[in-house]
Amino acid sequence: MTQPAPARGLDELTLGSAMRLEELVDRNGLAELARSFFELFRVPLRVFSEDGKILADAYETPSLYVYLNGVPGARLALQEVIDSVKAVVPEIGQDATRACVTGAAYRVSAISYDGRRIGRMVLGPFLPPTVREVPTSLLALDGGLDPGRLKALLSEMPRAREETVGQLAAHLVRTLDLILFSGHKALLTSNMHLASVRASFHDLQAKNAKLEEAFERLKELDRLKSNFLATVSHELRTPLTSIIGYGEMLAEGIAGELNPEQQEFVQTIREKGEQLLELIKGLLDLSKLESGTMSMRKANLRIEEILEDVSTTLAPTARKKGVTLATRVQGSLHALWADAERLRQVFLNLTENAIKFTPEGGAVELVASPAMLDLSSDPEAGGFVLMATQRPGVEVRVADTGVGIPEEERKKVFDAFYQVDSSSTREAGGTGLGLSIVKRLVEGHDGTVHIESNRPRGAVFVVRIPAKRSTIA
Ligand SMILES: Nc1ncnc2c1ncn2[C@@H]1O[C@H](COP(=O)(O)OP(=O)(O)OP(=O)(O)O)[C@@H](O)[C@H]1O
Ligand SMILES: [Mg+2]
Repeated sequence: MTQPAPARGLDELTLGSAMRLEELVDRNGLAELARSFFELFRVPLRVFSEDGKILADAYETPSLYVYLNGVPGARLALQEVIDSVKAVVPEIGQDATRACVTGAAYRVSAISYDGRRIGRMVLGPFLPPTVREVPTSLLALDGGLDPGRLKALLSEMPRAREETVGQLAAHLVRTLDLILFSGHKALLTSNMHLASVRASFHDLQAKNAKLEEAFERLKELDRLKSNFLATVSHELRTPLTSIIGYGEMLAEGIAGELNPEQQEFVQTIREKGEQLLELIKGLLDLSKLESGTMSMRKANLRIEEILEDVSTTLAPTARKKGVTLATRVQGSLHALWADAERLRQVFLNLTENAIKFTPEGGAVELVASPAMLDLSSDPEAGGFVLMATQRPGVEVRVADTGVGIPEEERKKVFDAFYQVDSSSTREAGGTGLGLSIVKRLVEGHDGTVHIESNRPRGAVFVVRIPAKRSTIA
């Protein structure tokens, strides 16, 4: 069992005050060393930690000791010897020897590292070659001891000279020193690695927390901005409606006949008022879409009817601009489960743009066809789709032969207020809200919208909307 981790800090890294034998050596390696030592010299060997825990044990109880343990008087005496061996605290480099009642001896050496004692090693019991006879003190321990048996068992005891055992102990201590050194090095390296991993983990955690905080702040700011837009637009709409209303009344002569110049001025007031109202409606729509409070009134509908309606509405604008406007339906289309007014808004915006950014003599075409909608064909998904689910639906392409939209602008134009910064766009007017509303409305119908190039020139806005679920089955 390992002890609880010592306090963190420099000590933990360098193991300054916490060096423990059991942490520095590999238990299996130590056991292997003890076993091979015992096999070579037949002298029992035990290694203890500083607090007396046994760490390695290469020991076979000699038959003499097995016999003595079975005789009460002798067992007591042996226990006393073991206790006294256990109590020995040898100085570093000065082995201690304890004699046993059998005439054998135990040699206790200190295991140290870096001048600090961190454990003990006990060699023995071994019998010095000089002991030939059963000691009389042993026989006196218990009247039941059999002298003949004792003599026979004594001759089987491992024998070694005190001096030889001293040399063996010194050799073992040196070997352990080497093992401890490499163990210490490995432990230091792994502790340093752990400390650096811990430091970078803390670093990452702190950075993560900061990012999260910044993200939350941005979200809050975004929410405040949407609220602000919604409130301001709402508050502007009421007085504006009255300005337009009074303009109309003036134009109708309700407050007296106007001369031609006054008529012209009032007309300008009405036109600009209408423009402003459109902008405010757009802002309101956007803030409702952003906050998810835009209600959709979905019903079973046919996209052909909506496209026809859009085309009729914008035919005069196209004619004025000298642009041809046509609608085409290919194949039989699925019915859609959608909000007719919102879809009308989508295709009005796209077709208005198409006419606006197409010079005189150009063409705008709305083409509807049935399609299998595959998520992976959505460029927004970046091809990162694990399981492409296919769903039948309708694809509408709004194609023009106008100025076109460069590849790098195709995602940005869907941002609110973003306009491609070229003189032609600035000339064309508008506020840059149309496409951001289009995108959100299409997404509100589980659909997608993206831009492609038209050949030889112009842009194509591709809108895909899945069919009503019940018509799929
Ligand atoms: N068919 C198109 N051809 C070329 N550029 C286009 C086309 N449609 C949109 N764009 C570019 O994308 C920009 C954003 O379009 P969007 O409809 O969002 O704004 P707008 O038309 O400028 O203003 P609004 O729609 O609010 O009146 C346009 O200003 C224009 O630069
Ligand atoms: Mg527009």
